[in-house]
Amino acid sequence: MADQGREEADGGVDSVGAPGPAEPSSGPERAAAALLFGEREGLATRYATLLTTTGISHGLIGPREAPRVWGRHLLNCAALVELLPSTGTVADVGSGAGLPGLVLAIARPALEVVLIEPLERRVRWLESVLTELELDNVSVVRARAEEVDKRFDVVTARAVAPLTTLARWCLPLVRPGGRLLAMKGSSAAEELARARSTLSRMRAGDADIQTCGAGIIDPPTTVIVVRGASGLRRTTRS
Ligand SMILES: C[S@@+](CC[C@H](N)C(=O)[O-])C[C@H]1O[C@@H](n2cnc3c(N)ncnc32)[C@H](O)[C@@H]1O
Repeated sequence: MADQGREEADGGVDSVGAPGPAEPSSGPERAAAALLFGEREGLATRYATLLTTTGISHGLIGPREAPRVWGRHLLNCAALVELLPSTGTVADVGSGAGLPGLVLAIARPALEVVLIEPLERRVRWLESVLTELELDNVSVVRARAEEVDKRFDVVTARAVAPLTTLARWCLPLVRPGGRLLAMKGSSAAEELARARSTLSRMRAGDADIQTCGAGIIDPPTTVIVVRGASGLRRTTRS
């Protein structure tokens, strides 16, 4: 019994040895998950469970992420929904384990989401998750962002590159009037300041810093929002 209790506390191994569902673990997390995912919370829990099982064994996330998969990953990403339209197209550049793109596709089933990821091992895992969760509003493209020749209403990126680089990779994928949402932490103001000359050289639209999820998650998610423009130019210089 003592061993079983320790296993459950460590990571949700149930009494028959199979991994248990990775559910939100605290009251505030449960409240945030209910608000952000609504009736799709069960699907989000199945994704969290895949992240903390095969996601770890396939090296998509580190084992230390398991206890914080909701707070640090799912909820942090889901907060972005308040900046999204309810329908339209989203590309998630450098999706890795599906963050934030897969989370957004779960929370907003009417969005059409493309996960752009160059690494084959990650792409294979993502495809297996889409099959397992029977998500029909998401697809995976194995490519670097610079190789993709398509426009989207919204392009997201989290933990991929500094904004100066992201602007060069991602803004050409943003349709005129669309937006790049670059999820950032405390570096947001400094990154935006450094990227100003690149944004102006590319003739991007306005850029500012917004927070989302205030009052739902703590801390809220910080996002640099850059608007696409019709005269946007590709540039190789930073
Ligand atoms: C640190 S991971 C972040 C993954 C995920 N966005 C997250 O927040 O956990 C960075 C990801 O960006 C991908 N990546 C790197 N360069 C890229 C490029 N030029 N275009 C698209 N993805 C790229 C990597 O393969 C990797 O999966």
